[in-house]
This record gives sequence, C-alpha cells and structure tokens, in this order.
Amino acid sequence: MIVAIDGPSGAGKSSVAKACAKQLGFSCLDTGAMYRALAWLALERGVSLDDDAALGKLACTCTITFGHVTGDPVPRSVSIDGREVTDDIRTARIDKAVSPVSAAPSVRKAMLEQQRRIGLNGDYVVEGRDIGTAVFPDAELKVFLTASPEERAHRRVRQNADRGVGSIDYPEVLADIVRRDECDSSRATNPLRPADDAIHIDSTDRYIEDIIAQIVEMARHTQEVLR
Ligand code: DC
Repeated sequence: MIVAIDGPSGAGKSSVAKACAKQLGFSCLDTGAMYRALAWLALERGVSLDDDAALGKLACTCTITFGHVTGDPVPRSVSIDGREVTDDIRTARIDKAVSPVSAAPSVRKAMLEQQRRIGLNGDYVVEGRDIGTAVFPDAELKVFLTASPEERAHRRVRQNADRGVGSIDYPEVLADIVRRDECDSSRATNPLRPADDAIHIDSTDRYIEDIIAQIVEMARHTQEVLR
C-alpha cells in the first residue's frame, strides 16, 4: 500500500510522513531528499543548473541510497554515488539549487522511475510534490498537507535552529518559501497541485500529533477495506 503525502515546502510533510510510517510499520521515502542529493551532485560536478540534458544524464546515472538502522523504517542518512550528504543537502545553497534541478523535465522523468521502483518493495509512506498526481496516481491514500506561508517559515526557522543547518533569519526563510511555492506550482512538468482524490489537511493551527493520528487512522481504515 502507498500513502502519498504531497504539499508545499515546510507544511510538515517530513515529520508527519516519518511518524506515520513508524506507527504503520511502513517504509518511508522522502523524494525531496532525492532531488536535493541530485542538486548537490550537480554543484559538485559543475553541471549547469539550466542544462536539462546534462542534469537528466546525471539523474539517470547516479545512485541514490538511503541508510537504515535495523528495525527503523525511517532512513537515517542519504548518499549519492557513495558520498554521504545527509546534512549537506539541507543548506541554503541546496535550497536554491534544487528548484531549477527539480524543474528539469528529464530529471523528473528519471526520478519518477526510480521512485516507482523503490515503491514496488512493499508498503510505503511517500512524501513529495507530485506523488499522488504523477509518481503513484493509484496510491491507496493521498493527503495534501498545507499550512500558511508564515507558519511554514516559522517552523523552518525552528527546525534549522535545532539542526544547526540553514538560515534562521525569518524574512529570508519566508521569502525563500514564497519563491519555492511559486517555482513548484508553476513549473511545466508535474507542478505541485493536489490530486483530485487527495484529502486536504491544513496544519496551520493544529498539533502535529493530531494530524499524524488522523492519517494513521485513515490508512488503517483503507487497509481494512482493501483486505
Ligand atoms: O521537500 P523538500 O523541500 O526537501 O524538496 C526539495 C525540492 O524538491 C523542492 O524545491 C521541491 C522539489 N520536489 C519536487 O519537485 N518533487 C518532489 N516529489 C519532491 C520535491
């Protein structure tokens, strides 16, 4: 079974997806981390961020792997072509580079294929922007998670402060969120939009625990119906 969680940057998808996966005993796939790892590799190799063909070639030939600790469905690390980039992909440098990389049509095609292959390996909670619309259009449960841009910027600042990675300047973070919303929603290939059959959840004034409980309950109900 696939639980697809889509939504804009900073809506809480990662925390929600990880907690839901743990409670359901599903694996968890963070597709944003794959685009971020590719953006890191493009910068490392000096590939131009507006060269669709070169980025596509990189996406087809690179190997992205997630590192697991036994018994935990949520990966602890991400590597690309053998280089561990878990923290490096969360920097402001990658926040900027990942938009053009993820807008490249040949990159999206390669990533979609990789993500579908991974999803064949069992039950997954998959988070991203186009999971319910393009990668897994037949996902058994689709959630579109949103929050106001201001709330998302506050959360991102707190998260960056906790991690010690990324900007903690609120106006800068808010401007970046607005810029990325615009990029994600206006790109030609698989833009960010809710699937017609997605359940919309606005997390602005809600506790994350409530949202996790709501999604877990819906997933268990769906499993029952499918049995
Ligand atoms: O969720 P995130 O902020 O880590 O995602 C990083 C970038 O990748 C973001 O700019 C949107 C893009 N992305 C995408 O286009 N499609 C996905 N399925 C996941 C992420």
